[in-house]
Amino acid sequence: MSQDLVDAAKKARLKAYAPYSKFLVGAAVRDEEGRVFSGCNIENAAYPQGWCAESSAITAMIMAGGKQVTEAVVIGAGEKLVTPCGGCRQKLREFAAGTIEIHVCGEDGSIRKTFTLDELLPHSFGPDHLR
Ligand code: THU
Repeated sequence: MSQDLVDAAKKARLKAYAPYSKFLVGAAVRDEEGRVFSGCNIENAAYPQGWCAESSAITAMIMAGGKQVTEAVVIGAGEKLVTPCGGCRQKLREFAAGTIEIHVCGEDGSIRKTFTLDELLPHSFGPDHLR
């Protein structure tokens, strides 16, 4: 069921622009209509200006009119689980319920672990606080 999302993230990872870290990351999100959007990390010679794969995928969703992230995938290589960074957890929180699943995959696309957003970002601050 999540295979389309995994495939999109895997493909996106190969487009990563990461000449400095050489750490390629791909991400994909599903919106409330079931549409899939993907993105990669894009680094910059002025290091802090780079951005994460999850940000790219969220940007693509917003530009297509998507409103809610209902599921997400992150793909990266290495022994350790490539979980979304703190900033990306908060960015996902803006558009997702705490109950959504975030699948962390290996380079080959195998799902290594699935977390809910609440598990990754407990007691989060979100849009509801400002309503
Ligand atoms: N990176 C992501 O794209 N997503 C994450 O959640 C973790 C980190 C990228 C940022 C940077 O280009 C590289 O991985 C190394 O930190």
